[in-house]
Amino acid sequence: SSRKPIVAIDGPAGAGKSTVARQVAQVLDLLYLDTGAMYRALTWLVLQSGLAVDDEPSIAELVSQCEIELSGQPTLMEKQATSISVSINGQDVTQEIRSLEVTSNVSAIAAQPIVRKELVRQQRRYGKNGGIVIDGRDIGTYVFPDAELKLFLTASVQERARRRQQDLKNQGKDEISLDELEQSIYDRDLKDSTRALAPLRQAEDAIEIQTDNLSIVEVVDWIVRLYRE
Ligand code: CDP
Ligand code: CDP
Repeated sequence: SSRKPIVAIDGPAGAGKSTVARQVAQVLDLLYLDTGAMYRALTWLVLQSGLAVDDEPSIAELVSQCEIELSGQPTLMEKQATSISVSINGQDVTQEIRSLEVTSNVSAIAAQPIVRKELVRQQRRYGKNGGIVIDGRDIGTYVFPDAELKLFLTASVQERARRRQQDLKNQGKDEISLDELEQSIYDRDLKDSTRALAPLRQAEDAIEIQTDNLSIVEVVDWIVRLYRE
């Protein structure tokens, strides 16, 4: 086909997908799409609207009417990959979608077939010309099964909890114990990998990168090298 390559980056929570994907996109001059941010934005809207997270009919109606924009452009992505902002129905929720409340509810909402159907439709539309790095849970298995390069980023739960704790510290947010962070990461991975539709799983043709002992730069360089081969 005439479309440019797609780089799919999947993996569990906190493996480094979005950090790495953004930088890979920058180095290779590709677009970047953070699909997790879309599920998070919708989750924020559901909570904001006072809906119960299991109220599927109301959520279905909400998702059919909602407009999610990444980086405030008519397209869902942006070339300059450093400052991605997220808005839903015109409201900037870049900060809000990282809250604990959103994080602990997003998997329940992302498991709903209508939600996935609509967000996946948008993701496929925005990625259809290729030339893009997309990160999520089901990109290589479901959203773009024909992606030219598929990576599956992993790290131990302990390491991922440590990274999250460091993130919170850097942002000057309240500290959360490692135990709690491990539990929340574990819970989310479990929900994401056991849902019926497009669960988190490594595609057969994905290259696994175990990142426990790798720096961000090392992971980025590795992927850039694979892309150029
Ligand atoms: O960055 P972090 O690992 O915390 O999560 P994220 O990538 O922002 O994704 C948040 C949540 O959205 C995940 O835990 C999944 O429940 C859902 N998600 C999904 O179902 N499918 C995707 N392609 C991306 C995210
Ligand atoms: O998107 P995902 O949830 O997979 O992870 P992230 O939010 O991109 O990364 C979580 C944290 O791990 C960030 O603070 C990164 O700087 C850090 N980190 C990493 O991403 N990769 C490494 N090899 C080492 C640290």
